[in-house]
Amino acid sequence: MHKSIENDLDQLETLLTAVQAKAMDYLSTLAERPTSSNHQVSNMGELPEEGSGTLHALDLFSERFEPLMVASSGPRFWGFVTGGTTPAAIAGDWLTSIYDQNTQTTKGHGDVSAIIEKETIHLLLALLQLPKDYLGGFVSGATMSNFTCLATARQWIGHQLGKDFAKDGVSETVPILSATPHSSSVKSLAMLGLGSKNIISIHTKSGDREAMDIDHLESTIESLDGKPFILISSAGTVNTVDFDDFSAIAKLKERHPFWWHIDAAFGGFAACSPAHEHLLTDWENADSITLDGHKWLNVPYESGIFLIKEKHQLLQVSSFQNSNAPYLGDPMANFNYLNLLPENSRRLKALPAWFTLTSYGRKGYQEIVENCISLAKQFGQAIEENVHCELLAPVRLNTVCFCLKNEAESISFLDKLNATGKVFMTPTVYKERKAIRAAFVNFRTTKEDISAVLKLMN
Ligand SMILES: Cc1ncc(COP(=O)(O)O)c(C=O)c1O
Repeated sequence: MHKSIENDLDQLETLLTAVQAKAMDYLSTLAERPTSSNHQVSNMGELPEEGSGTLHALDLFSERFEPLMVASSGPRFWGFVTGGTTPAAIAGDWLTSIYDQNTQTTKGHGDVSAIIEKETIHLLLALLQLPKDYLGGFVSGATMSNFTCLATARQWIGHQLGKDFAKDGVSETVPILSATPHSSSVKSLAMLGLGSKNIISIHTKSGDREAMDIDHLESTIESLDGKPFILISSAGTVNTVDFDDFSAIAKLKERHPFWWHIDAAFGGFAACSPAHEHLLTDWENADSITLDGHKWLNVPYESGIFLIKEKHQLLQVSSFQNSNAPYLGDPMANFNYLNLLPENSRRLKALPAWFTLTSYGRKGYQEIVENCISLAKQFGQAIEENVHCELLAPVRLNTVCFCLKNEAESISFLDKLNATGKVFMTPTVYKERKAIRAAFVNFRTTKEDISAVLKLMN
């Protein structure tokens, strides 16, 4: 064995203690750490001949890269939709590396991973009050979840037309209807050969809404004359967290042939709040749902979840099976996640989610979600009262979308604010207006954080 590895193995406890000290240093100062950095990494490191062991690597990391680490899991990082990491999720994530399992179920080894993954899905379905007839699994994020769901949708369309698109390729233009799809669904359509330009755009409701206009949806469906299609709907648009009308869509589904997908990457967690669960009424009729763990569930990256109705398993398998690997057995007879999603080998992705759901339960998540919503509403109200700002849409859930009254200055104002390192928000374009978004999904954020940022903005 190489001597650097041997040395490291001999002092494994010292190494892990040093890493733990680094972790504690970061986590215990997270609230004060900067949310932006202009540290420059001097030059590219070279591959050493021998290597000098992990303690030295840790020193190098601390010196060269740590100053670049912005507090994106801290309480005032409101950019994108960036969750934090609960203590339990960190514990699960560390153990994921320690046990280094591959989540393939093959007889005799690896079974534990699938058992944990299935149980975690069961816990999530219970948290979100969804029925048990969804087969779920973990992928790297909502993008890959959208991909997995839309791949199965593609196969369903083929099946309606008597074709096998996975085997023979996509030979038809598939109508895809959506009003405000997340960019990752559009990217998935490109990756799946369905064509990102093939979205038939449904009008949004009037005014400040991003949800689809159901009358326009219905007339568009009628114009398809019975042709099967895919509907991509939103449980939480990115700018203003608008929700499509799932009860109306569920009714349309009784009369028309379509695959119904919901991107609920973060909005699905509205189900944790009795006061907001109505936003999701009837969503349990969707064929597939996308959720993200690394957003409102507050587990570390990378954690995305797909939920696809179990009745579609054959279509899902026909999209993802390893068909030229007879040693893996019959994919329908031997349950194996590698036949149900893009990756073959995966780490034990479900474990951080299992830890956090088990540690904090329904009430813990209700509190996280309701706290974030209440903070978003407080921040939104302050924006509305601020003479220099304009709130662009009502705060429906956990995101505040606004601009300066002098709109042209919005982005330079945001750049200056972000440069303070005290808060981070992201620029956006909403209804062709240059705007700013603040998203609240971190369990650590408090009303003191809101006050501190408002002071900074004045
Ligand atoms: C609604 C929605 N869908 C999909 C995504 C893509 O998520 P990920 O970055 O986890 O792939 C996001 C990310 O913000 C999102 O908000």
